[in-house]
Amino acid sequence: MVRHSNVLIVGSGIAALQFATKLRCDINVIILTKSHVKKGNSYLAQGGVAAAMSNSDSAYKHFKDTLEAGRFHNNPDPVAMMTMEAPNLISEMLEDGCSFDMDPSGNILLGMEGAHSEKRIVHGGGDATGKMIMEYFAQKVKNSNIEVIEDCTVYELMVNQNQCFGVKGKHMDGKKEMYTADHIVLATGGLGQIYSFTSNAETVTGDGIALAYKAGAEVTDMEFVQFHPTLLSVDGKGIGLVSEAVRGEGARLVTSSGKEIMKGVHPLENLAPRHIVSQTIYEYIKIGETVYLDISNIENFESKFPTITASCKQHHIDVIGGKIPVVPGCHFLMGGIKTDLEGRTSIERLYAIGEVACTGIHGANRLASNSLLEGLYFGKKLAEHVNSFSRETAAIPCPQDFSMDITPVPLNLPEREILQTKMMENTGIVRDKKGLTNQFNWLEAYQISHLLDRNLENLSIEEINRVFMTITAWLVTKSALERTESRGGHFREDYPFEDDHKWARKQIVHKRVGSY
Ligand code: SIN
Repeated sequence: MVRHSNVLIVGSGIAALQFATKLRCDINVIILTKSHVKKGNSYLAQGGVAAAMSNSDSAYKHFKDTLEAGRFHNNPDPVAMMTMEAPNLISEMLEDGCSFDMDPSGNILLGMEGAHSEKRIVHGGGDATGKMIMEYFAQKVKNSNIEVIEDCTVYELMVNQNQCFGVKGKHMDGKKEMYTADHIVLATGGLGQIYSFTSNAETVTGDGIALAYKAGAEVTDMEFVQFHPTLLSVDGKGIGLVSEAVRGEGARLVTSSGKEIMKGVHPLENLAPRHIVSQTIYEYIKIGETVYLDISNIENFESKFPTITASCKQHHIDVIGGKIPVVPGCHFLMGGIKTDLEGRTSIERLYAIGEVACTGIHGANRLASNSLLEGLYFGKKLAEHVNSFSRETAAIPCPQDFSMDITPVPLNLPEREILQTKMMENTGIVRDKKGLTNQFNWLEAYQISHLLDRNLENLSIEEINRVFMTITAWLVTKSALERTESRGGHFREDYPFEDDHKWARKQIVHKRVGSY
């Protein structure tokens, strides 16, 4: 069966729902999500939305902090536009009933996070900002005529002569369906699950990037992966996030003997940019130390951070004792599908917004709490673009003819856990040529070119996920090998410095050989 809509959105995070709910009411919209609206990374977000809302702050200061954290690899135009628009986006949501945290006099409460020069983190439910925002959006979607189809994994983009005209999806019961549309929007998030330590939801397996690359779209900046310094460490694993807002409230990173590890490393110490804090923790963990967040100086920790408190309690960690064991883990991809400032990819009628896209706003390392802001900003911007089209359906290329090569090459895929562990070891927080080359060769042995050509329709959903993870891991590793410098989230032990002469603002772009 083929379903048609004016707009088809793949993914259901903040960018997807902001976009869908800003479209004109006469535009019909289908959202396909492999999971559920109230699952996924946006729902898990703790910190908040960065916006220059205080009298002492300005869009210019927010702009400067974003470029500094991004190590000047950012595209400055969209950064300027997004930081200027941020306070309006918050005001718009407040007026619409979104309940950000306020003080008793009705002033918005602003938190502090790493690499920000001002308090500008707008939050909700203490540390449950993502949950609060996604519940607000879910309600808006419920009251609209937007159709949401959950538990549907998209396994192929239907592209003909560099025009996308739809997708193929597989439901939990194995049923396959085609969805055609005038505008196809990827909002599938990042790739956290390709690493063994991650803050990301179980479903975040690089789908949008692999789908787009497979279909011939350009992807860029894939070497820039952000490792969040503080995941909760339980039995040697990183479990969920301990928000940077905790350090914003004064928590310090210490060893078991109480040594403050950020002293002397960076002028901002515990609030240094994430890549610096993660690399420092990593060096301590490598020599067998356990690193803790000392929260003993934070008053009312439990009421300020209810989500983190609950997660500590669940793992029998005593927050009253004042020490939370932490470990860094993959958090965010700065790169992604290359788009222009409207969200257009290099394939006609195919757009990308949110983490899956790379507009260049985050540069080499994203400033804390700019990701929910990115979703809000680009979701709205793309809606304005699509709203300017008339509703008439454009001619859709015949969807009979889209099948790719169906040669039954035996499927050979890495085990999920092995891929995750090897990515952490070789393409992780600290990289070098030897580890990256080993990783690249290991991934190549899974015959990436066959995976790129392969028709995925007869695979199980877990196999489809592993195809996407393998292709995405390969793109990250390939790009990390190519960039012979260190910048932001990409740290090479063998090239430990930024090389402005060779690399300033230079993007590594990949496109499939032989694609349109
Ligand atoms: C955090 O709460 O530390 C995460 C916020 C973000 O990644 O922007």
